[in-house]
Amino acid sequence: MTATVRAATMADLDGMVDVELRAFDDAYGGEPSPELVASVRQIWAGRLGILGEWARVLETPADGIIGLLLCCPADPARYAQVRQHFQLDDDDLLRMVFGEPATAYVLNLAVVGSERHLAGSLRLFADLRARARRFSIRRLYFHSRVIGFAGWLADEFPDADPTALPPAERLRLAQRYSKSTMPNDNTRPLDRLLRMYVDRGCQVLGVTSGWSLDRLSLGYGVLCRRDLPPQPRSAPA
Ligand SMILES: CC(C)(COP(=O)(O)OP(=O)(O)OC[C@H]1O[C@@H](n2cnc3c(N)ncnc32)[C@H](O)[C@@H]1OP(=O)(O)O)[C@@H](O)C(=O)NCCC(=O)NCCS
Repeated sequence: MTATVRAATMADLDGMVDVELRAFDDAYGGEPSPELVASVRQIWAGRLGILGEWARVLETPADGIIGLLLCCPADPARYAQVRQHFQLDDDDLLRMVFGEPATAYVLNLAVVGSERHLAGSLRLFADLRARARRFSIRRLYFHSRVIGFAGWLADEFPDADPTALPPAERLRLAQRYSKSTMPNDNTRPLDRLLRMYVDRGCQVLGVTSGWSLDRLSLGYGVLCRRDLPPQPRSAPA
């Protein structure tokens, strides 16, 4: 069944929270408590409130909402608001992103169900590129999780407790992991999710502290950049 992308509204809130909880079940747990669902719902209501048409949903007539992509133009005036509603750390990389002209920042991406594995996220990205063109945005930034990091650490250092490592050492290892590449191809990251982004033309910039609930990534994210090709002169606006 064909999935389509459109702007989200407050009426989509429950559907979007459901996608968030299912897509990140490793972080929220398979059966989140009513309190957890209510707190995620409150956070997402705030996000929808500040993003307007930049909050997009992917839906099918049969399944309803099965994916989402939240993004916003990264102008400095939005910086504090976005940081607050997305619980982002105030780091140098993020401030750099919000200081760049003609830039947008992708805040959330998730697809569940059978649209996972290419079709769903490609539709959301195509919609994002079309909107970016309309708003003269030339560059996209986003954070990728590093979903293989905890497993990699356990393999490399079987006797170490990653949570007991000093923060500076953990960060150094996260940086090392994010730069690790496939054994047979040193241009492609070892991490499966990071690899997917690089395969789609994204550049890896650096590790930042991320979302503490993300146990697979041990709370780290990798800032990525995707430059959008200039629009051909003859193309319609
Ligand atoms: C990110 C996402 C929308 C990409 O969808 P997609 O383009 O259809 O790509 P896939 O789902 O095939 O994911 C790409 C790779 O990452 C892996 N992956 C993605 N999320 C994963 C997770 N939570 N746990 C383990 N592996 C995961 C996939 O298995 C796949 O690896 P493979 O190519 O070796 O099979 C989708 O994977 C998703 O919603 N993931 C969960 C939420 C998430 O992590 N969002 C991104 C935050 S940066």
